[in-house]
Amino acid sequence: MDLEEIICPCTNTTRGMIKDAVDAGAATLEEVQEATGAGTVCGACVDEIEQFIRELIS
Ligand code: FES
Repeated sequence: MDLEEIICPCTNTTRGMIKDAVDAGAATLEEVQEATGAGTVCGACVDEIEQFIRELIS
């Protein structure tokens, strides 16, 4: 897993930042959006973020 990879170009959010949010307790797309802002602009990355959250939690 490349934690430096930007998963949401609109907000410059990396996979690492998503992981930090999940490690801090975010468990849903909405909670990750609240914590990071990722996926709140154009929405194109939302599916990928959801999938990544599932990978992290499983
Ligand atoms: S790429 Fe994530 S909101 Fe646009």
